[in-house]
Amino acid sequence: SDISNKEAKQKVATRLAERVKDGDIIGVGSGSTAFLAIQSIAKKIKEENLKILAIPTSHEVALTCSILGIPTTSLASAKPDWAFDGADEVDPHNHLIKGRGGAMFHEKLVIASSNETYILVDHSKFVEKLGSKHPVPLEVDPRAVHLVETCLESFEVSSVDLRMAQSKDGPVLTEAGHIILDVRFNHIEPGLEKELSSIPGVIESGLFQGYNINLMS
Ligand code: A5P
Repeated sequence: SDISNKEAKQKVATRLAERVKDGDIIGVGSGSTAFLAIQSIAKKIKEENLKILAIPTSHEVALTCSILGIPTTSLASAKPDWAFDGADEVDPHNHLIKGRGGAMFHEKLVIASSNETYILVDHSKFVEKLGSKHPVPLEVDPRAVHLVETCLESFEVSSVDLRMAQSKDGPVLTEAGHIILDVRFNHIEPGLEKELSSIPGVIESGLFQGYNINLMS
């Protein structure tokens, strides 16, 4: 249920905050679990008078950090000591689907830049096969939308949907001004992430295969 999910998210967020040490530069993922974690971290650094720097992965989490009084920097000026984030699906190989919130490009940059990443998940995120519940989101340059759709015809896909905004007209535009195609693949094989990112116009996908991550649940 939603309530036990929220409790599970809060529990793992609290445990994550225990890892914070003075002077850490921390990559901060997006989504509701990451939001709970940054709140727990804010509490801990206040209580213990720690100094940390956050590298936010979205405008939302940057705003949260500034409201909580946590100073921020960016990947252009600093390398994260470690990072944390959520996920939409996790399979038995620790491969992930992310990007329900549309921030997967920046999240991928932060995770790939980090020596250590903690992926915070509740039981609802575990799947036997990736793609069981969620499509794979592709961040696409709007000029390439038809090209990418054509290239996707050589994969076994069951649907390709342009992600539409919920509370404004038109498609979702990412922070970098790109569109999102939500793609349902019949099979997600190892190597699909690399194949997708080699399509011209695909900025990144929400598929994370073979990253060095630690699951926390
Ligand atoms: C954001 O773009 C996503 O990758 C999130 O990390 C993912 O959707 C998990 O979100 P929740 O923590 O809200 O479940």
